[in-house]
Amino acid sequence: MCGIVAQVGARACKERVLDGLRVLEYRGYDSAGIAFYRADAPRIEVVKAVGELSQLEARLDGVDEETTCAVGHTRWATHGKATCENAHPHVDTFDSVAVVHNGIIEDCHQLRETLRARGHDITSQTDTELAAHLLSDLIKEHRSLERAACALLSSLEGAYSFVFLLKDYPEQLLVVRRRSPLVLGKGDGCYMAASDQLAFPDDVRDVTFVPDESIGIITAHEQRIFDVTGAPLALSLQPKAVAAEQRGKAGFAHYMLKEMYEQHRVINRTVQFYQVIGGRDDAVFHEGQATHNSLWKQLALSAEQIHGLKKIYIIAAGSSWHAGRISQFFFEQVLDMPVSVLLASEFRYMPFFPDKDAIYIFISQSGETADTLEAMRMVRRERMHTIALTNVASSTIVREADGFLLMHAGPEISVASTKAFSCQVVSLYWLAHRLALERNLIDGTAMRACEDELLVAGQILQATMERYKDELTTALAPRYACFDRMIFLGRQISYPFALEAALKLKEISYIFAQCYPAGELKHGPIALIDSKTPVVIFSVLDELIYQKLIANVQEVKARNGHVVIFAFEGQHELIALADTVFIIPRVAPLLGPLAMTGVMQYFAYALTNELGHPIDKPRNLAKSVTVE
Ligand code: M6R
Repeated sequence: MCGIVAQVGARACKERVLDGLRVLEYRGYDSAGIAFYRADAPRIEVVKAVGELSQLEARLDGVDEETTCAVGHTRWATHGKATCENAHPHVDTFDSVAVVHNGIIEDCHQLRETLRARGHDITSQTDTELAAHLLSDLIKEHRSLERAACALLSSLEGAYSFVFLLKDYPEQLLVVRRRSPLVLGKGDGCYMAASDQLAFPDDVRDVTFVPDESIGIITAHEQRIFDVTGAPLALSLQPKAVAAEQRGKAGFAHYMLKEMYEQHRVINRTVQFYQVIGGRDDAVFHEGQATHNSLWKQLALSAEQIHGLKKIYIIAAGSSWHAGRISQFFFEQVLDMPVSVLLASEFRYMPFFPDKDAIYIFISQSGETADTLEAMRMVRRERMHTIALTNVASSTIVREADGFLLMHAGPEISVASTKAFSCQVVSLYWLAHRLALERNLIDGTAMRACEDELLVAGQILQATMERYKDELTTALAPRYACFDRMIFLGRQISYPFALEAALKLKEISYIFAQCYPAGELKHGPIALIDSKTPVVIFSVLDELIYQKLIANVQEVKARNGHVVIFAFEGQHELIALADTVFIIPRVAPLLGPLAMTGVMQYFAYALTNELGHPIDKPRNLAKSVTVE
C-alpha cells in the first residue's frame, strides 16, 4: 500500500524515481508526488498531482532542473482524501524536511496537537506530515541526524517505512523502518530505496532489506544501517530477484488479461518446482534424501512434527483466504486432517488458543499483507509453527515465518489476483498430497497422479477460457454488464470458489455481487430472486452434492430467476436449467474450481471491459494491503 522510490546520486535522479514509481503504481494510485533537491536555490522542490502517475508526469513536463537527490511516492489514501494537500511528499514548516511514507502512524491525534502547540503549520489531514515536523524538531534537539532518527523511531507507534529528504543534508537520504517493507539498492554511482525491489532499474544488482525497527542513511556511494539505539548493524547484501516474466503488458490490453493467460504456464512451472524440491520419481522418493529433504527444510518441519501433526490452521485475506477455504477440502479429504481457515483481520482480535500439534499456514501472494503478517507474528509469539505460502521470495512473510513454500506465479501486477490465486490452489493441493505421502496415506503413484491432475486442470483452465472468450466479449458481456447486482452460489468446494468469483466481479466491475452457499438460499436470500438479479452458479463434481445443487437451481428457476451456470461436461440436468452456460471438461473432483478459474475470471474481465472501468487499477484498491 503506497509505493516509495528514492535515489541519491547524480544519475538521472528524477527520471529513475519516476520509472520506479511506474512499476510500483500497483501499490496505490490515487495521487503521486516527488520531492527533489535544487542545489541552485538551494531548496526542496515538491510536485504533486491527484490521480494516476501520468498526472504527475504531466505536471513535471518542463520542470527540468537537475538533481542528485529525489524521493517519490504513489499513494493509497489512509488519512484524508485523495487531494493534492494529502499527497506525499510532505514537508515541515520550514521546508527543510520532505518525507514519503508507507504505513500508518498510530495514535497521531496527540502528536498532531503537540506539534500544533509547538507552532507547526500542519496543512494536510495525513499522519505522514507529522513525521516531517517531528523529525525537524528532533534534528534541532539532538543536533545529529542519526540521533534524531533514533528518537523518531522510538517515539512513533504503528507500521511505517519513511524516506526523508533533508535540505541541510542534501547528499544523503534518511530511511526509517518499522514493520512496513523497505529495500535499499546499490546502482551505478547511486543508492536507491524502494518499497519493492521491482522498482529498481537494471544497474541495481544487489539489494539490502532494511531490518525491522532500524534506520539507515544512504549516500551516492554507501549505505549504513543502525538499530534504534544507534548501534551499527551488519548489512546483508543479496542479489536482486529478477522477474522471469516479460515486463509490461506484452501486447495484452491489460495486466489482468496477461496474467490470466500466464496461468497455464505458471501452474506447470509451480508443479515442476515442487517435483524438484519434493521428490518426483521413485528413486527420489525412496533414496534421494537430498532433494527429498529440501521441501521439509524449507517448511522447517521435522519428521516427528509431520507424523505428530493433528490439525492445520490456514490464515489469509481476500483471494488468498478463498484459496485457503478451497484447500480445506484437500487437507481434510486427502490428508484426513481437520482444518480451520481463518480471516487474518478477524483472527488477530480473537482469543488465541495455541495448538502445539498444529501447523499454521499463512497464505499471501505479496507476503506483505499487514493483517496476515500481524496474525503470523501473534502465532509466532506463542512459539507455534508457522509456514508462509507466498509468491514473493524476498517478502517479509518469508523472512519472518519458520518455514515457507514458494509458488512460481511470477510478478502479479493487476490488483485483481488471478494467476496467484490459481497457483495457491495448486500449491495447497500438492502440499496436501505431499504430506499424505509422508504419512503413508498415499503412495508414490498417487503422488504422481496428483501432479498430473494439476497439469491437466491447468490446461483445461486455459482451454476453457480460450473457448468462451469470444462469446463472452461479444455477446455475454453486453448482456450482463447492465445488471446492477448478481447473486453467486456454490456448494461444498464450489462455495469458496463462488466467493472468489463474486469478489473478482465486484472488485473490478463494481457490480454488487453477493455470494451464498446454495443450500442457504431457502433460509432467506431466496427473497432476493427476481428477473433483475442474475444468479451465477458453480457446479461440483461430487455426485451427491451435484444432485443437491440441481434442487437449489430448480428453486431459483421456479421463482423466475435467471441462471448463469458453470457446469461440468455430462451434467445434462443442470445444463438444461441454464439461461447461459459454460461447460468445463471434467477433472479430478477436488480440482473442479481450478478448472473453472479461467472462464470465471474472463467473465469478470469481459463485463468490466464492457463497462469501461480501469481493470488493472480498480477504484479505492491497491495491490498490496500493507495497512490494517
Ligand atoms: O497479497 P495477499 O495475498 O496477502 O493479498 C490478499 C488480498 O488483499 C488480495 O487477495 C485481494 O483480495 C485481491 N484484490 C483479490 O483479487
